[in-house]
Amino acid sequence: MTENVEHRGKPIQQGFDLSGRVALVTGAARGIGRTLAIGLAKAGADIGVTDLETSLDGAEETAEEVRRHGRRAVVKPLDVTSTRSIEDGLHQVVQELGAIDILINNAGIIVRKPAFEFSCDDWDNVIAVNLSGVFFCSQIVGRHMAENHGGRIINVSSINGLLGMKQRVSYCASKAGALSLTKVLANEWAQHNINVNAIAPTFLLTPLTEQLFDDPSFRHEVMSNQMIKRVGKPEDLVGAVVFLASDSASLITGTTLAVDAGWTAT
Ligand code: NAI
Repeated sequence: MTENVEHRGKPIQQGFDLSGRVALVTGAARGIGRTLAIGLAKAGADIGVTDLETSLDGAEETAEEVRRHGRRAVVKPLDVTSTRSIEDGLHQVVQELGAIDILINNAGIIVRKPAFEFSCDDWDNVIAVNLSGVFFCSQIVGRHMAENHGGRIINVSSINGLLGMKQRVSYCASKAGALSLTKVLANEWAQHNINVNAIAPTFLLTPLTEQLFDDPSFRHEVMSNQMIKRVGKPEDLVGAVVFLASDSASLITGTTLAVDAGWTAT
């Protein structure tokens, strides 16, 4: 016997079409966030493009690209380290685009140095964005989703959440924490029809990493650890994120999808 599964009162279809859905993406002014916003728009979603107040020019460029694909886009400031800013950003996106179906917790920062040299700020700033930011965005948007038929939350973690890489102690701890809270929230919020999943990408070429990739020894380290010997791009994440946001993934929650060229399979 098959049971009918519904989204907003309509039977769900298998497939990857996101038409009629609204996605809010954090840190969407550049890099992976921009690419995911455009990828979700190509799959049919309207996009709340959010980033720091200081990055809204880039966010506007992302929104222009979304509109070129025939989807609606609004640009709003949203600093994930401030619950007031998250609430304001959410409210403004909802007012213009309607209820949020998909949250992409993408905003992230890194500090690289030996653990002995970490200051309190080096630790706190990374945890505030990459871990507390993911939690409070999930909590605030999750409450809204629970009042509106549920939704999908996708956390952009990293292979650094699965591995203990040198010189990245706060980053690795924050990304591992994001994987842990993914499971807890999936467990608590399944009853509200909210699926919470994470992706764990390998190093990709973005503004965050372009200096690293200029260093031949870093490039060599990546190539020797990846089974697939090419440098990944943000576009390599779009399929995984669209899938997790789509009806095809309606029975998937609490999981981490490694998009890591095989790095963590060794
Ligand atoms: P990026 O530095 O190019 O972009 C990050 C974006 O986040 C920027 O637009 C920035 O303004 C925004 N942001 C920073 N602090 C914020 C805050 N407090 N509130 C809201 N927005 C804020 O970085 P990239 O490479 O695009 O990374 C995006 C995510 O993907 C991050 O979470 C990163 O840890 C993760 N990631 C990146 C990988 C890579 O190799 N580039 C690999 C694995 C994961």
